Amino acid sequence: MERVKVIDLPRILDVRGNLSFIEQKRHIPFEIKRVYWIYDVPAGEIRGSHAYKTLHEFIVALSGSFDIVLHDGKEERRYSLNRSYYGLYLPNLLWKRLENFSTNSLCLILASDFYKEEDYIRDFDEFKKLIGIR
Ligand code: TYD
Repeated sequence: MERVKVIDLPRILDVRGNLSFIEQKRHIPFEIKRVYWIYDVPAGEIRGSHAYKTLHEFIVALSGSFDIVLHDGKEERRYSLNRSYYGLYLPNLLWKRLENFSTNSLCLILASDFYKEEDYIRDFDEFKKLIGIR
């Protein structure tokens, strides 16, 4: 869980409107191979509920708010994202669930690799077995 990091992004404040940005390997510790986003989430829905064998991600609430609930096999931790000028860096081998999406929330995810279904662990018991916890 210590590998998880809240990362503040640059903020260029301007009376015309503010601007933030992300540069790979400067603000986040990996090269970006894929960008995806989650939107139009109906109230009460849950996304995620899986872990990745190798993938690293960086998640930003571009609009609205939602919670990221992480489990490392021992401990659960909840992060609430609600601003577009910081994000959460998630290394591999963490169980991730996204919930509590506000109306019109927009969840941006930068990923260290292309989409590969074989990198997913979708069974929590299998996840615990893989990281050596019974
Ligand atoms: P999934 O990662 O399970 O969604 P979430 O973790 O947000 O609940 O992906 C849902 C579906 O979308 C699944 O069939 C795979 C597909 N998908 C892609 O084709 N490419 C992608 O980059 C992602 C993230 C998902």
